[in-house]
Amino acid sequence: MTRRLGVLISGRGSNLQAILTAIAQHHLDASVAVVLSNRPDAAGLERAREAGVPTEVIDHRSYRTRAEFDAVLVERLRHHDVGLVCLAGFMRLLGPVFVNAFPHAVLNVHPSLLPAFPGVDPQRQALAHGVKVAGCTVHFVTEELDAGPIVLQATVPVLADDTPDSLAARILVEEHRIYPRAIARVLAGGWRIDGRRFVET
Ligand code: GRF
Repeated sequence: MTRRLGVLISGRGSNLQAILTAIAQHHLDASVAVVLSNRPDAAGLERAREAGVPTEVIDHRSYRTRAEFDAVLVERLRHHDVGLVCLAGFMRLLGPVFVNAFPHAVLNVHPSLLPAFPGVDPQRQALAHGVKVAGCTVHFVTEELDAGPIVLQATVPVLADDTPDSLAARILVEEHRIYPRAIARVLAGGWRIDGRRFVET
């Protein structure tokens, strides 16, 4: 696996920023080869430009099917010789065309302690469930939503007066801390996938 990362975003890009900062501070031995966004107005694109990273917008609305959109993403990532793909607030589902093109080489960060609360609005789901701890998960992406092998997780307390926004902000701090670490862990090798499990060897 090359140490060239491809980061996929749809929005503000604070996790992208955490990755760029970890690289700049030599906590993560990698480079961001390209940032792809499905939205032309994603604020994260500006963060990439400021870091001197190439950006490309691939607007999903320009493609008739998910398979066509996925194929273009794959082609652009291959063009930039990307070894590990990092989803960072990328709000499109990826299908088999994408997942099979990068076997065991796509990571995502999700703001819940998976397998609890996959999908949308996990912080709201967590509050509705009355959980006392929440957190985030970095996991491999498979065809099943938010269900791939877990690389790292971190927890935060849930406070009595939390709103989805206040809980999301507390979790986000941990996302920024563990995502670069999880990437470093995967790039370092010495692991295998055993069914649903990421196993350190
Ligand atoms: C993060 O909470 C991430 O876990 C979720 O979407 C949010 C993206 O935030 N998938 P940002 O764009 O990285 O700031």
